[in-house]
Amino acid sequence: MRIIKVHNIIISCLLLIGFAVAASAGNFNQDFEITWGDGRAKVLNNGQLLTLSLDKASGSGFRSRNEYLFGKIDMQLKLVPGNSAGTVTAYYLSSLGDSHDEIDFEFLGNLSGEPYTLHTNVFTQGKGNREQQFHLWFDPTKDFHTYSLLWNPQSIIFSVDGTPIREFKNWESKGVPFPKNQAMRIYSSLWDAEDWATRGGLVKTDWSQAPFTASYKGFNAQACVWTSSSGSSCSSKQNQSWLSQSLDSTGQARIQWVQKNYMIYNYCTDTKRFPQGLPPECTLA
Ligand SMILES: *[C@@H]1O[C@H](CO)[C@@H](O)[C@H](O)[C@H]1NC(C)=O
Ligand SMILES: *[C@@H]1O[C@H](CO)[C@@H](O)[C@H](O)[C@H]1NC(C)=O
Repeated sequence: MRIIKVHNIIISCLLLIGFAVAASAGNFNQDFEITWGDGRAKVLNNGQLLTLSLDKASGSGFRSRNEYLFGKIDMQLKLVPGNSAGTVTAYYLSSLGDSHDEIDFEFLGNLSGEPYTLHTNVFTQGKGNREQQFHLWFDPTKDFHTYSLLWNPQSIIFSVDGTPIREFKNWESKGVPFPKNQAMRIYSSLWDAEDWATRGGLVKTDWSQAPFTASYKGFNAQACVWTSSSGSSCSSKQNQSWLSQSLDSTGQARIQWVQKNYMIYNYCTDTKRFPQGLPPECTLA
């Protein structure tokens, strides 16, 4: 009798802990694994903070333990400060493989005081070439800022501190593939790309400033977790309004503000690059 009672108490405690974890922000020890970098990636503060570093010998990286099929995924990043020219901090979702789907944020470093470039891309069935690049309206190295991906069956929305900067709509009805059949993991890495990252490779990495460090916190995913045994499951405890969310008129106005003031490259206006005609989603948008 007594043993059963203790047993029940333990189970109730486990349930409570489980619920607390599901309802609060993520933990890097539980949600992610370090994939490379030989000690250059570190999980700190009981799983609340993760840092990646890069020196001349190697960069570093991590990935999510879970695979997701749709989600609203937030992460706070603080980028390499000072002279970060040549460094790239990549933060993306990918299914990997030849016909992979992928949704990218890449932060291209710069000389001290010069702006980072936020590079975005969407790959469907192995095909990308959908770059849009932005400058940011703040210094992304001074504080943490939230970078979010909303990925649902209708669209993909990239946001920065809650401001949408890009939308890739589902135009499957017009023959444009949309990522919705392959689960993706979250990946991030800090690596050296001095051959192209800063002013097209003119500015090289200054290794006297190494190690370079980028920091992550505040991971929060409302997402459908995919497993090979049971397919995709979205936690029924969660508010699932994100699964059908789309840009409202305020969101449309914000995107227009960002694109007017901060966009520095848009594949959809690069007619030289696509002499046969712009990709179909560009004229549908
Ligand atoms: C670096 O700064 C230059 C000059 O302000 C700017 O043109 C460029 O877009 C910035 N970013 C990169 C990645 O080169
Ligand atoms: C679910 O989330 C949306 C958007 O965040 C909110 O407007 C709505 O009230 C929430 N619904 C419930 C039942 O909590």
